[in-house]
Amino acid sequence: MTLVALDNIGVKFPVGRRTLTAVDNVSLHLAPGETVGLVGESGSGKSTLGNVVAGLQRPTTGAMRFRGKPMDTATTKAAHKEIQIVFQDPFGALDPRMPVSAIIAEPLLIQRIGSRADRAGRAAELVEQVGLPRDALNRYPHEFSGGQRQRIAIARALAPDPALIVADEPLSALDVSIQSQILNLMRSLQQARGLAYLFISHDLAVVNHLADRVAVLYLGRLVEVAPRAEIFAMPSHPYTVALLEAVPRIGRRHRRAVGIHGEMPSPLDPPPGCVFHTRCPKVQAICRAEEPRLEPAPGRPAQSAACHFKS
Ligand SMILES: Nc1ncnc2c1ncn2[C@@H]1O[C@H](COP(=O)(O)OP(=O)(O)OP(=O)(O)O)[C@@H](O)[C@H]1O
Ligand SMILES: [Mg+2]
Repeated sequence: MTLVALDNIGVKFPVGRRTLTAVDNVSLHLAPGETVGLVGESGSGKSTLGNVVAGLQRPTTGAMRFRGKPMDTATTKAAHKEIQIVFQDPFGALDPRMPVSAIIAEPLLIQRIGSRADRAGRAAELVEQVGLPRDALNRYPHEFSGGQRQRIAIARALAPDPALIVADEPLSALDVSIQSQILNLMRSLQQARGLAYLFISHDLAVVNHLADRVAVLYLGRLVEVAPRAEIFAMPSHPYTVALLEAVPRIGRRHRRAVGIHGEMPSPLDPPPGCVFHTRCPKVQAICRAEEPRLEPAPGRPAQSAACHFKS
């Protein structure tokens, strides 16, 4: 059974008199307990799509289903409880005037779940589950380190016992030494609770550690979706190939992207045909004229790419 299904989601923003297409025609699903890594360059639409899933951004076109049901009032209410979000900046996301106990219990208060005593008990359980000392409950966000604050944000997201957490670059603001601790915490919470993650990251090495499947966005379009092992071993879309070449590896001297030339075009004025054609090493006439559909790669039914010349 599918937890979340996105069907042809588009998000457009008015910018002056023009229209910016942040997300275009994206279809994607998440199963219970699954981690989908969402990757792509800055401005590719990752946060916008994550916000749609988390109910923070209304799509301009397309539809989302939750546990198989279209988003009517009742489904939306259920989804608000079961889909939580963790942001990149663990300080900006926490109200500095609230003690940790109130921060963690806030989603329960908003959803009117439990009595005041129930909520306090739940906050106490959660601080321990995310590896914070019990006395954290009565302290304020500024008294904690970046990693600890991200633990508080994770505890708050867990409070209503969600089925899915949208994690938008949850490690990017943290010291490298702390990143793996938070990654391990997220992984063990997932195993204990059967949580699904939509894990947004520009860091493919992190995604390689955590994701079951990887979805690659380029200029708001989904250009490739595949199981983690396949995408890292034999990427099908030239953009995925280029992204992987840009991943720093130990012992590798060059850390710059070898495959991607030039800048990403403006989402106010996307190129016709395949949106990647202006930077693609495989470009042919058809790529400038015809937008490729996201379809399985030859002989690989689980791996889809939107490319006229997918490998
Ligand atoms: N509220 C908004 N109004 C206008 N344009 C927006 C708005 N939100 C996002 N955009 C634009 O939509 C595009 C996608 O933005 P988004 O934040 O989703 O990208 P991203 O992949 O999360 O980037 P990053 O890696 O930098 O976080 C960008 O061009 C951005 O400028
Ligand atoms: Mg973002």
